[in-house]
Amino acid sequence: HTGKYLVTGGAGYIGSVVAAHLVEAGHSVTVLDDLSTGFRGAVPEGAAFVEGRLQDARRVLDSSYDGVLHFAAHSQVGESVQDPGKYWRNNVGGSIELLDAMREAGVRRLVFSSTAATYGEPLTTPIHEDASEAPTNPYGASKLAVDHMIGGECRAHGLAAVSLRYFNVAGAYGRYGERHDPESHLIPIVLQVAQGRRDAVSVFGDDYPTPDGTCVRDYIHVADLAEAHLLAMAAMTGGGEGAGEVAGGAHLICNLGNGNGFSVREVVETVRKVTGHPVPEAAAPRRDGDPAQLVASAERAVKQLGWRPSRTDLAEIVQDAWDFTQRYAGTAGAE
Ligand code: UFG
Repeated sequence: HTGKYLVTGGAGYIGSVVAAHLVEAGHSVTVLDDLSTGFRGAVPEGAAFVEGRLQDARRVLDSSYDGVLHFAAHSQVGESVQDPGKYWRNNVGGSIELLDAMREAGVRRLVFSSTAATYGEPLTTPIHEDASEAPTNPYGASKLAVDHMIGGECRAHGLAAVSLRYFNVAGAYGRYGERHDPESHLIPIVLQVAQGRRDAVSVFGDDYPTPDGTCVRDYIHVADLAEAHLLAMAAMTGGGEGAGEVAGGAHLICNLGNGNGFSVREVVETVRKVTGHPVPEAAAPRRDGDPAQLVASAERAVKQLGWRPSRTDLAEIVQDAWDFTQRYAGTAGAE
């Protein structure tokens, strides 16, 4: 059955892909976004748009909403180390305002955009949800704080919530894709090199204890990720496909990843194959705070939510990102 949902951060990369999936599934969607890093043009047609901060959720929400999907946050690891206050103020402070507004309006279902950065340097691989949580930067710490805040809200006030901990989200969904300024993530950077917009990709460290010495990450296609959000909401509204119904008072935390690790070198090699362009590499020092390997166990999402990722091939992920980069990234029409 269809519902009415607020999507915070729905003008950003992941929020816009999820909003588009919700609209396509027939749901009624309102996007709340302050456009600090998002794009008005990324809000899907068919969704209502409110330009505002999380503090403004109070004037949007009322009891006609079935739930909230919460993406609005700052998300740059490096910046969070330089300017931690920005992360605590916005990610944590904004989320308190949102939870208050939801309680006051009687909106009792939440899907939260959490991250693998809550685990920090993992002790075991693949990473399960019961792994120790020791974030190595304020970005991960702020997301972990919100996870704790949500857990408390569930116990105290009967909220139903699912936190989804993403690994390395990549790829694109039609006209919805990844655009940061300046670009910060590996796949879009390597694609810019393939386009000739950058001279070379800096490989941050080649002496890690991994098969080829470069860092290994679990890249997950943004459309597979989006489907997990719809399943998470369905698990709270009684239409779930997995084993677990998430009732009021419950907080389910699920990792989302491919379960497959790819090294920085493998990503660069895949971009060469997909694009047919040479991609020069330049050796660079290790980047602060980078764990050697981050690979998810997504068993819980598969079992509890009925999630089935279907775009797990790295070449397919890169192909979709490449199509988006060529067609839409940097174009005025996308603004
Ligand atoms: N890398 C390079 N050269 C680059 C850019 C990245 O070698 O120019 C390497 C990084 O060192 C890392 C890998 O490519 O080993 C992937 O880096 P990304 O910056 O694309 O992503 P991260 O693995 O750093 O992702 C982290 C957290 C996520 C979080 C994200 C937020 O793991 O949970 O940062 O930005 F969401």
